[in-house]
Amino acid sequence: MSEDPDVASRRIARESLDRDDATGWFEHLYAAAAEGSAVVPWDRGTAHQQLIDWVDESQPDGAGKTAVVIGAGTGWDAELIADRGYDTTAFDISPTAIQTAHRNHPDSKAHYIVADLLSPPADWHRAFDLVLEIYTVQALPIHVQPTAIKQVTELVAPGGTLLVIAAARPDTQPDEEVQGPPWPLTRAAIQSFTAPDLHLIQLDQAPSPSDPTILRWRAEYLRD
Ligand SMILES: C[S@@+](CC[C@H](N)C(=O)[O-])C[C@H]1O[C@@H](n2cnc3c(N)ncnc32)[C@H](O)[C@@H]1O
Repeated sequence: MSEDPDVASRRIARESLDRDDATGWFEHLYAAAAEGSAVVPWDRGTAHQQLIDWVDESQPDGAGKTAVVIGAGTGWDAELIADRGYDTTAFDISPTAIQTAHRNHPDSKAHYIVADLLSPPADWHRAFDLVLEIYTVQALPIHVQPTAIKQVTELVAPGGTLLVIAAARPDTQPDEEVQGPPWPLTRAAIQSFTAPDLHLIQLDQAPSPSDPTILRWRAEYLRD
């Protein structure tokens, strides 16, 4: 009997993480999903609802501006941002995710690229007017998160905006051991996306509509 796709997804993650390989499982998972033997649990086939809400509320005009979508997966969030007029770069560590994004969005205006957040191209330093981070940092083990967070912040251009959407660790359990992935972000982790010139300007915590026991952050930052 073949393995249940949900079970396969968890097994693939665990095999890499047990080898102390924090990111190798993403490609294994996307490749297994492409041949139908696993599922990508976060692949919604649409943009994230909290991103849709932010776009509706903020009505950003991307004309003449650049955006980067981190851990872009199969591209649904990047498409929404590109449709707002941003010159959009969308990257993921998984080549299969990027191939799937190209296949999903053949007429896309976004540039889909394989790249590693932990070692980004030098010319991306402070290069983007909008930086979008949804669920990538929380998919990395806790000891990797501070480096990942620092790299996220270094993508934001002067005058630029950073939007972070992530599962939230309850304030009452900041030190409780979590068996990830994911490793939801504490309030302290959300606050650590700041720098002397990068300010947290809005922070919301709300229950997930599909599972009210899960809390989610939506945090917006602005660079001077
Ligand atoms: C939990 S998924 C979220 C995907 C997408 N942002 C979403 O919300 O649907 C995390 C994504 O980040 C990618 N990823 C993980 N580590 C990465 C890294 N170091 N650099 C770039 N992408 C990474 C994974 O391949 C995966 O597509």
